[in-house]
Amino acid sequence: MDPEQRRQLGAHYTSEADVLTLLRALFLEDLDDSLARVLQLHGPARELGLAAFHDRLAALRLLDPACGCGDFLLVAYRELRRLELELLRHLPAPRACKVSIQQLYGIELQPAPAKLARASLSQLEQRLDHELADALGCPLPRRSAPARVQVRCANALRVDWASLLPADACAYVIGNPPFVGKKARSAEQVADMQIVFANAKGTAALDYACAWFVKAADYVAGTTAEVAYVATNSITQGEHPGLLWPLLRRDRGIEITFAHRSFAWRGQANVHVVIIGFAARAQRPRRIYEAGDVRVVDSINPYLVEGPHQTLSKRRDPLDPSTPRASFGNMPNDGGHLLLDEAARRELLRADPSAARFIRPYVSAKQFLAGQARYCLWLADATPGEFQQSERVRQRVANVRAHRQASTRAATRKLADTPGCFAEIRQPATAYVLIPRHPSARRAIVPLGYFTPDYIVADSCVAIPGASMYHFGVLSSAMHDAWLRQVGGRIKSDLRYSIELVYNNFPWPTAATPAQQRTIERCAARILQLRQRYASTALGGLYAPDAIPGELAAAHRQLDAAVDDAYGIDPRVSPGERVALLFTLRQRTDQMKFDYKIEMVPEDVCGGYNVPAYTEGALEVWQEDVLFLRAEGIPLVEFAIVLARWLHKLVETETLYYASMDFEEEPIFALSWDARLQGFMPSSVWSMSKGVPVPLEVARGSAASYIENLCRDLAPHGICLTKVIADAIDG
Ligand SMILES: C[S@@+](CC[C@H](N)C(=O)[O-])C[C@H]1O[C@@H](n2cnc3c(N)ncnc32)[C@H](O)[C@@H]1O
Repeated sequence: MDPEQRRQLGAHYTSEADVLTLLRALFLEDLDDSLARVLQLHGPARELGLAAFHDRLAALRLLDPACGCGDFLLVAYRELRRLELELLRHLPAPRACKVSIQQLYGIELQPAPAKLARASLSQLEQRLDHELADALGCPLPRRSAPARVQVRCANALRVDWASLLPADACAYVIGNPPFVGKKARSAEQVADMQIVFANAKGTAALDYACAWFVKAADYVAGTTAEVAYVATNSITQGEHPGLLWPLLRRDRGIEITFAHRSFAWRGQANVHVVIIGFAARAQRPRRIYEAGDVRVVDSINPYLVEGPHQTLSKRRDPLDPSTPRASFGNMPNDGGHLLLDEAARRELLRADPSAARFIRPYVSAKQFLAGQARYCLWLADATPGEFQQSERVRQRVANVRAHRQASTRAATRKLADTPGCFAEIRQPATAYVLIPRHPSARRAIVPLGYFTPDYIVADSCVAIPGASMYHFGVLSSAMHDAWLRQVGGRIKSDLRYSIELVYNNFPWPTAATPAQQRTIERCAARILQLRQRYASTALGGLYAPDAIPGELAAAHRQLDAAVDDAYGIDPRVSPGERVALLFTLRQRTDQMKFDYKIEMVPEDVCGGYNVPAYTEGALEVWQEDVLFLRAEGIPLVEFAIVLARWLHKLVETETLYYASMDFEEEPIFALSWDARLQGFMPSSVWSMSKGVPVPLEVARGSAASYIENLCRDLAPHGICLTKVIADAIDG
């Protein structure tokens, strides 16, 4: 198969070691243990045990629905025969072997690998029969009928797997479904996904392999069959979990039974894979395998860390409203005419020394890591009259205008009217933390920056204005690093720093004491000081794998320990355990969230009398990322007033009840305290899912955030929500 066809089909083959890793976790460890236990018995109990074990082996049916040349099926068959041989060796009298290739089922799109899989399985069967006869020293009575290999050449996403093997006869679905990203997909593959996902929202962004997860979930529904797939680790990162798992868990009741966290794939350098075991009737306990260790846990979430089910969606604001907001840097869209390297800056100053007041240092992600000095003309604060006096600056601005006028995009052509300014201006007015948006995953520590506002930040970076040394410290720590690597997703082999997924969902150590905060600040400042000492080395080189100077590495370890102390976590834990703790903290704050979209604001807001009735929009109530309520045309301010009154109540567990005139008997939204569950149960005339109890502080925090966000979003419309609420409560 040529490389392009291989890429298109996602045909990457799995090494025997990786296949065994999957099979061991799925059933081989269990079978090995069971056989060892039977062999410890004596007399008739042992004989009965061996016979039952033999029947169990012979009853197992396995399906690989993207079987390629049959690597998974071959290894699985060989292992079943290994167990059978061991069992037969311990029998007092020869018995016919029962395990056959007829227990293995495969589906493969391409005729050639499908044919190869059939041939290889038949050959393996013959070879193992001979080996068995040699090992036992007698020709064994063969099975009654010649075995047929069941590998079907078909599109697995379009055929009913049960037509090959009924689901209740199947014990395990295994394999390495084809990984084909959005851009590489053929029209037929897009159509395959639409069929499997039934056009569910957002699924176009999922990898092709995800369709095998959903198809398997449909197949095993209502049965005890278990599935285990190898997949690239990207399906446990970024947007994937939030898009895939509602389809699997909410819609199909699937749970994860075991997981091998990310490990380097033997098949191809630079590819990291995970193994996910899942089932509709999942047994407890569950197992997480990480770096040679196995942990028995109660539940595993879609990021493959211990903890109750939780997925992240994009948030507009940080989880904790008191943390500074992040934004992208400034976007020039200038054809390079506003940017200067060192030589261009010198040349400009030689020709026109007065241009110095327009020149500011410019930090892009590349410059930040590579350490080359770069500058820009920053005319946002200058009047046109001022910079027109400089011939060189005027010429550069004219070039920007010409560049923008030549654009095919109307929005860029419009920017030609303000050629002296960057296209998008988001320059912090205070000191800020700088985070490269796509840092290399190869560095053990992702270096962040801390800059004063005279440094113009480029849009290849995220900037967090108003961030203190404490914020810089926490964001530079191992805790935040583990979060970024798990949650951010990748772009090629680089990490992806998404504000909405990574930063806004990050749970800060809110219980940190002032003394702990001061220690973090001290450790963070020490890192910046040490970097000064190595100022002649670019930051990218300073933090290159194995190159970081000892004292800087030690300073990072001290910072990590200080941040770990603030989170109350043991510094020796694995990255997976760090992420698990962060999810636990996050869950406390994200069990209920009110979202909205303002659709109508009153034209006349004077006096504010008509604001509660005429500010309308769509209201959504989410619980643990499941939509509980969506309602259109809701008076959002009126709802805020009801929430504010409820927050003012002296009895904190009093019911919250919000109804409209039309639905007086049934609430649009209510929260009633359930003393037994120690939480508020939500209800609504339009509820879209089953509500789950919400602890008191979560319910109150969600209501307060709704009011705070709405207050912020209505301010540009001239509405002061705080005053409207105060008037309503007083009145
Ligand atoms: C990642 S390979 C796995 C191969 C096999 N597990 C192995 O390791 O040898 C994925 C296989 O799925 C096949 N494939 C791709 N799309 C398919 C489809 N729609 N239905 C069935 N098989 C498909 C490819 O031809 C390829 O052989």
